[in-house]
Amino acid sequence: MNVPHTARINIAIDGPAGAGKSTVARMVASSLQYIYVDTGAMYRAVTFKALEAGLSTEDNELVGRLAKELDITLLPGTDAQRVLVNGEDVSSRLRTLDINRSVSYIARLETVRYRMAELQRQMALSKGVVMDGRDIGTHVLPDAELKIFLTATPRERATRRYLELGPDAGISLNQLEQEIKERDRLDEEREIAPLLRAPDARLIDSTGRTVDEVAEEIVQWGIAVARTILAEEK
Ligand code: CDP
Repeated sequence: MNVPHTARINIAIDGPAGAGKSTVARMVASSLQYIYVDTGAMYRAVTFKALEAGLSTEDNELVGRLAKELDITLLPGTDAQRVLVNGEDVSSRLRTLDINRSVSYIARLETVRYRMAELQRQMALSKGVVMDGRDIGTHVLPDAELKIFLTATPRERATRRYLELGPDAGISLNQLEQEIKERDRLDEEREIAPLLRAPDARLIDSTGRTVDEVAEEIVQWGIAVARTILAEEK
């Protein structure tokens, strides 16, 4: 796609598990030639290391210390983003059922959130970033020029996750739906930076819509916002 000459902006995409954020965000970043930052992968990387070290998912101090010492690097990959932790590529080990079940506990820890938000803000400093997560528009990048809240019904989100995991994962669609609802609850009810639609975020319900359609809508909004900013700067 030909990217018109516009100002570079930051785009925040928040929403619950399985709403399609990561696929859509990657497509938007690729269309606009922006950098995609998957913040969920960062929480997953911390969870992976905390479980590996045998730490309790409730231990704010120890998990926080671990998070601070980890060197997390996100690299664009052909399919999904590659995640390096202390130089080791852990990408293929972050989307397991074990991590799905623990990540929202790790993401409740104040020390971990503080560290992740700090890293995420650094990544967005030079603009031209599409960042997806739960608290990007409300907390990490409250000044993002375009904010999206992407959602879909729990059933549809569970179905997508079911197809992603495959039938060999040993979990039924109903169980997955329950787990997704539980993760929504933990993310929405936590004290620090809960999953919340920013008042100035545009709401997109992706139920029954393709990722291409949704990504294209966001790209068009992004271009419009960036053009307005450029015009105002002149
Ligand atoms: O891909 P999926 O939507 O299942 O989840 P994810 O984006 O990989 O995020 C995994 C978990 O990390 C979420 O359920 C949240 O508990 C946490 N998270 C967060 O708290 N804040 C973010 N900005 C991103 C993820």
